[in-house]
Amino acid sequence: MPVRGAAEDEQKVGSGMKARERTVTNEFLRGMPKAELHMHVEGSLEPEIMFEIARRNGVPLRYGSAEEVRKAYDFGDLQSFLDVYYEATRVLLYERDFYDLTSAYLRKAHAQGVRHAEIFFDPQAHTDRGVAFETAITGIHRALLDGRRGLGMSSHLILCFLRHLSAEAAMETLLQARPYRAWIVGVGLDSSELGHPPDEFRAVFEEAARHGFRRVAHAGEEGPPEYIWQALDDLGAARIDHGVRCMEDPGLVRRLREEQVPLTVCPLSNVKLRVFDSIEEHPVRRMLGEDLCVTVNSDDPAYFGGYVADNYTAIRDGLGFTRGEFRRVAENSFTASFLDENSKKKLLANLNAYFAGTQPETLRGV
Ligand code: HPA
Ligand code: ZN
Repeated sequence: MPVRGAAEDEQKVGSGMKARERTVTNEFLRGMPKAELHMHVEGSLEPEIMFEIARRNGVPLRYGSAEEVRKAYDFGDLQSFLDVYYEATRVLLYERDFYDLTSAYLRKAHAQGVRHAEIFFDPQAHTDRGVAFETAITGIHRALLDGRRGLGMSSHLILCFLRHLSAEAAMETLLQARPYRAWIVGVGLDSSELGHPPDEFRAVFEEAARHGFRRVAHAGEEGPPEYIWQALDDLGAARIDHGVRCMEDPGLVRRLREEQVPLTVCPLSNVKLRVFDSIEEHPVRRMLGEDLCVTVNSDDPAYFGGYVADNYTAIRDGLGFTRGEFRRVAENSFTASFLDENSKKKLLANLNAYFAGTQPETLRGV
């Protein structure tokens, strides 16, 4: 059988599920070395673990079973999800809970090819309930250390400020983080986007920058392109989380392309939260076509129907992503990370070896 070139690979897109399955199999996508740059650790609380932790901590839940919980995951928008997400964090009380939560994510991510993860956590979701900052971060950090030793997976932790709370509360949280500076690579901004523009948090991001924290921000998920401009210009964000609404503003697309600002796109999340009606309508492939620095991530995998490789699978099925496009997305995931240049180089070499060691697509699955 002749080996097809890239052009033919492109032509096969849209020619039916079977052909695509052979071109880029699930197994190939799961095995592909990748980084995950947009994942909220609290959003990896699977219903089974939620029940287990609730039971041992004596926290009552309003659901009778894990299946019942999953059935309730039918969201109309970001806020309806956040209401459920914050309610579920109530089960997390002790260091061990944060350790177990983080360890479970690392195991799942590792099985889906994640070699490096940059993980968000929401300290205010815990400190506001009376759980100490130290309790949350120590449990998470200990799991990350064990993940490095046990799974060979590197990781960074990013502290997110909740934008539905005040800028003063964010500043207070930054103060609490100071003793743990060495455990935290950067700060981010998440929670309810509409009505909470990035520029409200300018001072706290400036202060974070003075202490050497990297800066990222959720923008352009539900919010308008203007919020992406603000995240770049007012907060100095090095990456934009989501950013999908940039496509409504050609001037912004030009800026993002010229500066190669990484966008941490989460396709299954966007469909689950009804930013787009279906994967078929998601702009992620058009964004890559605009030469934007697109990465693909899971956001809140326990709530949105899949981990990172499941997101890769979804865009293959719904949008016909090709082998070459997946390679660019995986490359971007490493180059857009906050790893040092040497570590990036090693991981990119692994990725190259993975592609080089793989049979030509027409021979796969035959
Ligand atoms: N968007 C904003 N805030 C969040 C999200 C999200 O997708 N997940 C957890 N906090
Ligand atoms: Zn997010």
